[in-house]
Amino acid sequence: SKGSDAYECDCTRTGFYGQNCSTPEFFTWIKLTFKPSPNAVHYALTHFKGLWVVINRISFVRDAIMRYVLTSRSHLIDSPPTYNADYDYKNWEAYSNLSYYTRTLPPLPKGCPAPLGVLGKVELPEAKLVVEKVLLRRHFIPDPQGTSLMFAFFAQHFTHQFFKSDMAKGPAFTKSLGHGVDLTHIYGDTLERQHKLRLFKDGKLKFQVFNGEVYPPTVREAPVDMIYPPYVPEEHRLAVGHEAFGLVPGLMMYATLWLREHNRVCDIMRQEHPEWDDERIFQTTRLILIGETIKIVIEDYVQHLSGYHFKLKFDPELLFKERFQYQNRIASEFNTLYHWHPLMPDAFHIQDQVYSYKQFTFNNSLLMEHGVNSLVESFTKQVSGRVAGGRNVPHNLMHVAMKSIEHSRNMRYQSLNSYRERFSMTPYTSFEELTGEKEMAAELQKMYGHIDRMELYPGLLVEKPRPRPSGIFGETLVEMGAPYSLKGLMGNPICSPEYWMPSTFGGSVGFEIVNSASLEKLVCQNVKGPCPVTSFRVPNMPDVGASSENSSMGLSGIGQLNPTVLLKDRTSEL
Ligand code: HEM
Ligand SMILES: *[C@@H]1O[C@H](CO)[C@@H](O)[C@H](O)[C@H]1NC(C)=O
Ligand SMILES: *[C@@H]1O[C@H](CO)[C@@H](O)[C@H](O)[C@H]1NC(C)=O
Ligand SMILES: *[C@@H]1O[C@H](CO)[C@@H](O)[C@H](O)[C@H]1NC(C)=O
Repeated sequence: SKGSDAYECDCTRTGFYGQNCSTPEFFTWIKLTFKPSPNAVHYALTHFKGLWVVINRISFVRDAIMRYVLTSRSHLIDSPPTYNADYDYKNWEAYSNLSYYTRTLPPLPKGCPAPLGVLGKVELPEAKLVVEKVLLRRHFIPDPQGTSLMFAFFAQHFTHQFFKSDMAKGPAFTKSLGHGVDLTHIYGDTLERQHKLRLFKDGKLKFQVFNGEVYPPTVREAPVDMIYPPYVPEEHRLAVGHEAFGLVPGLMMYATLWLREHNRVCDIMRQEHPEWDDERIFQTTRLILIGETIKIVIEDYVQHLSGYHFKLKFDPELLFKERFQYQNRIASEFNTLYHWHPLMPDAFHIQDQVYSYKQFTFNNSLLMEHGVNSLVESFTKQVSGRVAGGRNVPHNLMHVAMKSIEHSRNMRYQSLNSYRERFSMTPYTSFEELTGEKEMAAELQKMYGHIDRMELYPGLLVEKPRPRPSGIFGETLVEMGAPYSLKGLMGNPICSPEYWMPSTFGGSVGFEIVNSASLEKLVCQNVKGPCPVTSFRVPNMPDVGASSENSSMGLSGIGQLNPTVLLKDRTSEL
C-alpha cells in the first residue's frame, strides 16, 4: 500500500527507532556514549607493551579479552546469511543457493538513477582512470610492519580455498561451496578431484620425489584439471587441490608444505591406529589439518597483521557459553577487501637471483630447482608492499585492480561510507579525511565529485594507513576484515562443542598436533636438513612502532615517519 516515496524501516532489535531507525533507545544511547572508537581500541592494543606482557600471562584475563574480541567482531556478521547480488530482501533462494557469495549490504536498487544511490555526477569514473590516478605504484612502498612475502603467499594460498569466483557465472558466484576453511585448496572441491589426488594407501595423497624431496605429483600421475600455459613442460605441471595454484611458485610452495604435512600426519595416525583403513586415516588427517590451519591463522597470521601486543588465542571453548552460530557464508565484500595485490613486489629475490613476473609466474621449475628451503628463506627475507595509503599496486597486476572495480560495479556495491556505517564507523566527510593527504584527495574529488560516492575497493586502497605501528591497512579494511575473518575461522564445525574434542582428531596425539601448530613447525617438520628462517615478518627490520609510545593518539602522526625512506636501505640489502 506504500508508494515508492513513503517507507517504513523495521527497527526490530536494532536498539534504534524512528522512520530511519536513527534515534537510539535509552540503553543504546548509554552504550554508544561510552563505547570507545575503533581507533581508540586499536591504539590501546598496539601500545602499552609492558601492560600487555603482564595481561598475556594472566590466563583468565587473556581469555576474557579474547572472548570479547571474538564475540564483538563476529556479532557484526549476519548469521544465517541474508542477501546476495540478486536479492536485496530476505528470501529462501538467497539463503539457500550456495553458488552465490552472500552480501553484507544488499545491492543498490536496479532502478537507481545515480551511481551508488547518491546524487551528484551521473557517471562514475572509468576504472582504468581510477587505477592510474591513485592505485598504480609509482615506486615500491614497503610495508612499515615489515610483512614478508612468506606472509603474502600464505594469504593468497589460504584465502583461495574460499575466494574462488565462478567467472563463467559472474563475479557474484563462487565455486567453493564449503564457504570457509574446508581445505578444498589441498583436497579439491569435488569428490572426484579428491580421489584423483589420493594415493588410497595409508590415507595419503599422491606425491613425487625430486632431488630427494617430496613434491606434488604431475598431472599425468594425478589427472586433474590444472591451469598452465601451453609452454610449461609436463614435468612441471604439478597437480594439487586448487586448479590455479600453478600461477606462482609461492602458492605451489605452500601446496607442497601442506601435502608433506598431510602425509606426515597420516604416518602418525597409522601408528596410533594400526587398525584404521585408508579412508579413516585420510578423513581424520584432513580434520587435523583444518585445525592446524585455523591455529596458524589466528596465532601467527592474524597476530602479525594486527600488530597487537595482546596475544591472540585459538581456543574454541571460549565461545561455548556464548550465542554463536557454527556456520559461515563467504561474503562478496570480504573477497573484494582481500585483494591485497599491493603486497606484491616489483620482482622476486630467490637466493642470489632476481626473477621478473614473467619468469616467476607459472614456473614450478623455480620451486623444484631452488627447493622449499630456499624459497621459504628468500620469501621470509623479502618485504611486502604496503596495502593502504594508495599508489602501490604493481604494474604487472594493474588489470586485476581494474577488474576489482568493474566487478564491484557489476554487483552494485554500495558506497565506502555505507560500509563504514554498516561496520560501526563514522562516514568520512571529505576525501582529505579519507586519504590523510591532499594530492590523491584532489584527484578523487575530481573523479567522484562527492565523498559519499566513493567506492569500496579503491577507497580501501587509498585510505590513510592506521597510525604506527600498524601501518599496513587503514581503519576500514581492518574493521570490516576482522569480523569476516574471525567469524569464518571460529564458525568452522570443528570449533563446535560436538566436534572439539580429542577423539575427533584421532585422540590426544592428533589433538595436540592441532593445539601446538605454528608456521614454523609447518616448515621445520617438512623440510630436509636445517630449518630455514621462517616468519611472516622480515627479521631484523627496524621496528617502526618501537618509539611510538609517546606519540599523540590522533591520526596526525602519520606523516612524521616515512617508512619508504626508513626501509630503503634495508630492502636493497635483501
Ligand atoms: C604475483 C602474484 C599474484 C598474481 C599474478 C595475481 C593475479 C590474480 C588474478 C589474475 C586474479 C583474477 C582477477 C579477476 O579476474 O578478477 C586474482 C584474484 C585474486 N587475488 Fe591475486 N594475484 C597475485 C597475488 C595475490 C595475493 C598475494 C593475494 C593476497 C591475498 C591475492 C588475492 C586475490 C584474491 C582474493 C582474488 C579474488 C579471487 C577470486 O575471486 O576467485 N592475490 N589475482
Ligand atoms: C529519514 O531519511 C530521509 C532521507 O535521508 C529524510 O528525508 C527524512 O527526513 C528522515 N526521517 C527522519 C525522521 O529522520
Ligand atoms: C543458484 O542460482 C543460479 C543463478 O540463478 C542458478 O543458475 C543455479 O542453478 C542456482 N543453484 C541451485 C543449486 O539452485
Ligand atoms: C623458471 O625458473 C628457472 C629457474 O629454476 C629459470 O631458469 C627459467 O628461466 C624460468 N622460466 C621462465 C620461462 O622464465
